Amino acid sequence: MPDKSEPARLDDFLLGLHGADPFAEVSDASEAHRVEHASTLAGGEQECGAYPSSALKMRLLAATGRATGAKRVLEIGGGLGYSALWFAEIVGEGGRVETIDRFAEHIEAIRRYAERFGMGDRITALAGEADDVLPTLDGAYDIVHDDGWFGAQPSYYDRLAGLLRPGGLLVLSNWFLLEHAVTGQSPVDWSEVLGPTWAEDVKSYARRLAADERYDVSFVQNPAVALAYRRPDA
Ligand SMILES: C[S@@+](CC[C@H](N)C(=O)[O-])C[C@H]1O[C@@H](n2cnc3c(N)ncnc32)[C@H](O)[C@@H]1O
Ligand SMILES: [Zn+2]
Repeated sequence: MPDKSEPARLDDFLLGLHGADPFAEVSDASEAHRVEHASTLAGGEQECGAYPSSALKMRLLAATGRATGAKRVLEIGGGLGYSALWFAEIVGEGGRVETIDRFAEHIEAIRRYAERFGMGDRITALAGEADDVLPTLDGAYDIVHDDGWFGAQPSYYDRLAGLLRPGGLLVLSNWFLLEHAVTGQSPVDWSEVLGPTWAEDVKSYARRLAADERYDVSFVQNPAVALAYRRPDA
């Protein structure tokens, strides 16, 4: 038996091609933080939710964001700021990244890491529930990254299209759940976290996105992410 799954070996090889992850410290800190934060939360690590994005996903988004000249990014689900730092580098000098998170501990960490990496003038951490914060924002963002949804269409789904500029990109993380839902094979029993209808809920959201005439959607398998281009004419 190999000691690592084939996809994990491939990820390791690909990551090794690119040298050090500039924000690895924040990714590592997110993993450690979750364990500590979980001890104070009834819902444990899932309630904290600070699972950092994969470096491979951020490299894909870096290429996409730079090629499209993105200057303004909105993120739902800041965690400790790992993906926000990548976006801050992608938008470059004069660009802006706003990232929302519900936990004060996460907001404090995002601000601290933004300063540490010299991105304090590019990253704004917004505290609160996405449902409460999104109505206070004005578009138009070049990229909206939803890393907050998990397991079902989020309540703020329709608000996202209004914040995204026509021709902009809605990026939706956490679509690894779709493979688990469709194949019935999952390393985790998601029904314990998301409830008994989770697989149908995830598939319903995929169908809803694909049928939404405002977008042209691609579901990427690895790294698992959905890219929804906001049609200029819809
Ligand atoms: C997957 S983590 C984000 C990871 C981060 N983007 C990164 O790459 O490091 C999800 C985060 O979203 C936050 N979150 C989830 N749903 C939210 C909501 N509706 N409003 C505000 N924050 C939310 C959680 O507190 C958690 O920190
Ligand atoms: Zn936390």
